[in-house]
Amino acid sequence: VRMNEITPVNTQSPAPKALPDAQRVTSVTHWTDRLFSFRVTRPQSLRFRSGEFVMIGLMGDPDPATGRQKPLLRAYSIASPAWDDELEFYSIKVQDGPLTSRLQHISPGDEVILRPKPVGTLVHDALLPGKRLWFFSTGTGIAPFASLIREPQTYEDYDEVILTHTCRDVADLEYGRRLVEDLRNDPLIGEMVEGKLRYYPTTTREESAVTGRITDLLRSGKVFEDLGVPPISAESDRAMVCGSMGLNTDLKEILEGFGLREGANSEPAEYVVEKAFVG
Ligand code: A2P
Repeated sequence: VRMNEITPVNTQSPAPKALPDAQRVTSVTHWTDRLFSFRVTRPQSLRFRSGEFVMIGLMGDPDPATGRQKPLLRAYSIASPAWDDELEFYSIKVQDGPLTSRLQHISPGDEVILRPKPVGTLVHDALLPGKRLWFFSTGTGIAPFASLIREPQTYEDYDEVILTHTCRDVADLEYGRRLVEDLRNDPLIGEMVEGKLRYYPTTTREESAVTGRITDLLRSGKVFEDLGVPPISAESDRAMVCGSMGLNTDLKEILEGFGLREGANSEPAEYVVEKAFVG
């Protein structure tokens, strides 16, 4: 239903406005009953750095007292790279979540609200130059790295890029697995990532090629053995972390144990962290 086709119930009040900052959904993919990704049109004026996030959402239900509707917005990492002409997002579905309980039902042609003010710390500018770049993620925390592994600068700046993704079950890895596979087979970008991008998926509640939390696998040294790389060092390694609070805290401690210091846009260093946003 188009906004201008809605007849206001109370003719005294002004006609409802079209959604502010509206973008149109172009595709939706449901990966599991708890995970989906979707793409929307990109505002012409939107510039962002791969790895940043924006606020997106839907119009909330009318306030029972005033009848006014307010946008219901949450932070979402942009999962597409800066060069893409659409924007991609990766989300969980929370059955009683105020936003994701509704957002999971969007389909192509629907509108979502997108505030065009990208921010975030998981950006190349927040890291000092290095040789090997680690992307550590759990769950939907892979989203900013879905952007960064498609960003040419990632491969210009580093000799080796390692994406780790830890989820409960094998099915939860599918979005990332497909992304890496498509990237490797892409006629244009495939060449850029060839021999540089390593993918290290692990699961914690279902057996898979590598079972266990990435934190334990780092502590035991199994990750380094499996990948055939030296242990993390402040001299050559840089890291970006995105997951649950628990993961972020534990990984910070591990990375600092290897001598890495936390960086920021204003003061680049050896690693950066951001919470994976949930709806
Ligand atoms: P686990 O199954 O051992 O809790 P969730 O679905 O709860 O967001 O978790 C996503 C993944 O992150 C799960 O595989 C979970 O492992 C893992 N995880 C949760 N907390 C931590 C942590 N503190 N350190 C490392 N991995 C974690």
